[in-house]
Amino acid sequence: MSEKLWTGRFTEKTDRLVEDFTSSIDIDKRLYSYDIEGSIAHCRMLEKASIISEEDATTLIEGLGLIKREIDRGEFQFDNSLEDIHMHIETRLMEKVGKTAQKLHTARSRNDQVALDVRMYLRDETSDTVKRLVMLKTVLVDLAKINIDVVLPGYTHLQRAQPVLLSHYFMAYYEMFSRDVERFDDCLKRINVMPLGSAALAGTTYPIDRAYTASLLDFPKISANSIDAVSDRDFIIEFISAASICMVHLSRMSEELILWSSSEFGFIELPDSFATGSSIMPQKKNPDVPELVRGKTGRVFGDLVSILTMMKSLPLSYNRDMQEDKPVLFGTVDILKPCIEVYIKMLPKLKINTEAMNTAATRGFLNATDMADYLVSTGIPFRQAHGCVGEAVAYAANKKKELHELTLEELQSFSSHIKQDVFKILTLDQMINRRKSLGGTALENVKAAIKAAEEELASKIKG
Ligand code: ARG
Repeated sequence: MSEKLWTGRFTEKTDRLVEDFTSSIDIDKRLYSYDIEGSIAHCRMLEKASIISEEDATTLIEGLGLIKREIDRGEFQFDNSLEDIHMHIETRLMEKVGKTAQKLHTARSRNDQVALDVRMYLRDETSDTVKRLVMLKTVLVDLAKINIDVVLPGYTHLQRAQPVLLSHYFMAYYEMFSRDVERFDDCLKRINVMPLGSAALAGTTYPIDRAYTASLLDFPKISANSIDAVSDRDFIIEFISAASICMVHLSRMSEELILWSSSEFGFIELPDSFATGSSIMPQKKNPDVPELVRGKTGRVFGDLVSILTMMKSLPLSYNRDMQEDKPVLFGTVDILKPCIEVYIKMLPKLKINTEAMNTAATRGFLNATDMADYLVSTGIPFRQAHGCVGEAVAYAANKKKELHELTLEELQSFSSHIKQDVFKILTLDQMINRRKSLGGTALENVKAAIKAAEEELASKIKG
């Protein structure tokens, strides 16, 4: 077992139980490449500021490179007695390059080091999440284009309400994921701040050059307050919040796919490659993928509550409690990424049952509002029109007919204002295409939305 790096003032060895209890290496080893990259930049800065010699810097940087290769290849030995990834790398550096390794930690503390590592890790993951979401948005636009004029019932309270275009539906999710992209992009601004040089909490007496370290590590901003820099985990809270909202969107889409693929709806069929069978009921094809996305959503919410609770009431500055930020952050990343990924792959393979959607849209009095609007156009106040149509619906329901299946005479018994031209208004085509208000479901609106989305995506992918 290697010697710990902080035993100077201790007379007793750490209890094995405490070593295991305080160790975070199983979790934070994921940060190794960032830790090494940060250390290399720190060495370069120390050399530039003449805090260490050029020779020492070269030795340290070469040693760090060797360690990176060892970990990359899976040849590195991890050990709970060395607490975390920072201690592991520093201890190994000692074994590799000897005493010079003792200079690496000059003007630095694990408190600013860990903040740096997590920020570097998370900016990569956030950019990756944005890329994946942009791909998902592309898939949704493609689906909207392919199904441009498919009509289905729109629902409120899960009761058939008014017909809408399926393409409008897909574009609704496009809007939701666009907001997610904005949230992650915005959160990236606050992740991308360089904390190194804050040292333990108060800054350092060495003449360090933080701007140089920031430029080496490609940080556009440097933290302004050393106490805040080592205590701040807002950027993690923000990421998990954005992830939670994104999971809300994915879970709503999941719920919809689960409902729509049931025999009761029969609107879609999931691809065989993304569904599973039952071990007992041979006829079954289960929507496990959307169900699991829906189920995993709760775990991300749990991570959000964990990190908020962990940070609540913590006195400044660094507290060891904060080591618990990593399991929740990594947990969220490990859920969010594959959830987006399965949707990118699965959605293009959905089988859309146009017929079932269309049939459902023509049953259940979805044209009642249109008939009321028709009456309004003849000069009747909306509330009165609403009442007339309500009575007509009750009458038709009793006859097991739809409004448009009643005769003109029958309709006129509810209002003498109704004329033959009402039947045109009651068709699916008119119900969709007369809803031209900005953001409404009319075909021309949806086409314009798709065009705008394609332009936006083209610029996003280019940029
Ligand atoms: N493993 C620790 C963490 O993740 C690193 C910082 C430790 N700092 C300390 N003063 N013990 O938070």
